[in-house]
Amino acid sequence: MAIPQEFISELKMRTDIVDVISSYVKLKKTGRNYTGLCPFHGEKTPSFTVSPDKGFFYCFGCHVGGDVIGFIKQAENLDYVESIKLLAQRAGMTVPENTADSGLSRLRTRIYEANRTAARFYNKQLYTEEGREGLRYLRGRMLADSTITHFGLGFAPKSRFALVNHLREKGFTKAEIIQANLANETRNGNPIDRFTDRVMFPIIDLRGNVIAFGGRTMIKDFKPKYLNTSDTPVFTKGNNLFALNFAKNEANGTLILVEGYMDVIALHQAGFRNAVAGLGTALTPEQANILRHYCNEVILCYDSDNAGQMAASKAIQILRPMGLDIRVVAVPDGKDPDEFMKTFGDQGPARFRMLIEKSGNDVDYRLDKLRSKYNTELTDQRVSYLTEAARLIATLDSSIERDVYISRLSRDQGVSKEAILEQVNKIARKNSAGAAKREFRELKKQMTSESSAISREKYVPLGSARAEEALIALLMNNEDIAMEVIKKVSPELFCSPLNRRVYEAIKGNAEKGYDFSLTDISGGFSDEENSRIAQMLFSHTRENDPKRAAEDYIRKMTDNSQRITPDQVASADEDELRRMMEQIKKKKA
Ligand code: CTP
Ligand code: MN
Repeated sequence: MAIPQEFISELKMRTDIVDVISSYVKLKKTGRNYTGLCPFHGEKTPSFTVSPDKGFFYCFGCHVGGDVIGFIKQAENLDYVESIKLLAQRAGMTVPENTADSGLSRLRTRIYEANRTAARFYNKQLYTEEGREGLRYLRGRMLADSTITHFGLGFAPKSRFALVNHLREKGFTKAEIIQANLANETRNGNPIDRFTDRVMFPIIDLRGNVIAFGGRTMIKDFKPKYLNTSDTPVFTKGNNLFALNFAKNEANGTLILVEGYMDVIALHQAGFRNAVAGLGTALTPEQANILRHYCNEVILCYDSDNAGQMAASKAIQILRPMGLDIRVVAVPDGKDPDEFMKTFGDQGPARFRMLIEKSGNDVDYRLDKLRSKYNTELTDQRVSYLTEAARLIATLDSSIERDVYISRLSRDQGVSKEAILEQVNKIARKNSAGAAKREFRELKKQMTSESSAISREKYVPLGSARAEEALIALLMNNEDIAMEVIKKVSPELFCSPLNRRVYEAIKGNAEKGYDFSLTDISGGFSDEENSRIAQMLFSHTRENDPKRAAEDYIRKMTDNSQRITPDQVASADEDELRRMMEQIKKKKA
């Protein structure tokens, strides 16, 4: 299963990390490093840094980091082996057989192939005698032929074996077809087509793989209206967004989030090529997290029916804490974006642009909704509205933003600004007291958690943890010194478990004689851990006299006698914990 270390080292030698990352992030050279806007969190000033010397990237804003493999893993949402395959392909190398292509990885490859074959098959059907009905349906929904081709739409025939037979002919096994969820398994174990007599919408991931399908019935009121691929080894519906493969390149900081496939397609056709949709579920935190990587503003455009508005509220609650700006577009007359475009024809794009322009941000939206619940002509209802509104405003982090809404509310309701401000501050104080308590509880939980090696380290005394990290950075930067240190220093000397493992990995590589690969250790660590390793590398500058510095660090590590051990922390009560934190803080100062 494991890919030989030699291969990974050579792959990394042949791969220019700046070059790879440049196809995702616009990088600018600053001194020895390159910087740009972090693709892993929304930001306006660049804190994402790539060091070609170190072969590592690190974001000082969200603290994600790692080597080039780690970057691909996270940018493309792939596993370790798949990321290596992708980079190998790019470098014109072939991953040694029976390592990469074993088990799950191989099954996933086959499912991608089966899906692609199916998508081609469905699309071709549109232009056959039987499939003409599908083509007519799509054209009837005002889709241009170029749009149909662009989205790879198709038609699933009525026969229950059309696709299965086609895939069997192309060499796919029954098991593969069923695992791809392109067929259901009958009682006697035979596959029959999952999708029949439907127009088909392929769902494509960021690398252009077909990962799933949505199929719409053409029969009015037939249920289910849409049938979708269930979760498979290559698809989890809460983790993907429809049309993000197209929209990500058009985002320019903003994505439009709508409810349905047809809404996305109608918007793209009308020139709003930054529209995406969820896949028939309420917005999930995973989807929000993906959105955050590609934009800093989301325009929500959900159906104006009750269900749609509820969904919008929920989406706001997920998006807002991620620091995304949110605007809410209300499409008039209970229409969805697709119907809107259809109604207005040529004028649709301009009119939709206007809707966006005059759409409020989510605070406006929520205040409006709140007000509609009350009759503010009546004093007691007005008081209730103001109280609720103050509670909403109190959740805003920015005091400028708070001030804007307080002023507006004061104007609208004829109540003094001071009175509202006082109310808001009172609530905010209460909230933050609660937050401090929660934070403390969380800290304690983290400190005592058995599962998280990373958080356990936070209570290793900073003096020695710093020295350990500085030493690791130094070893990765200075091979000759590394070779000497490794002979003398036992891993036992490292008191942070992560640092110890990093040291062991470096030592392992050094002893195997991969002289150029002391930094090629990412495979043995999680994304989170690799981020911490990148942080170590980036927060310790090269020493003028590395040999002496190494000796210093080692001495500090050896000297450090008054350690607070993990067990001490685990058993400490709140007071003791607080004292330990004070002690750590003092040392830091
Ligand atoms: N959906 C689904 N299963 C259903 C109904 C809906 O998965 N039985 C998902 C689909 O992704 C669909 C989205 O929810 O695109 C929105 O549903 P809806 O508003 O009902 O459909 P529209 O996109 O408006 O579809 P159409 O215009 O074709 O009626
Ligand atoms: Mn619709």
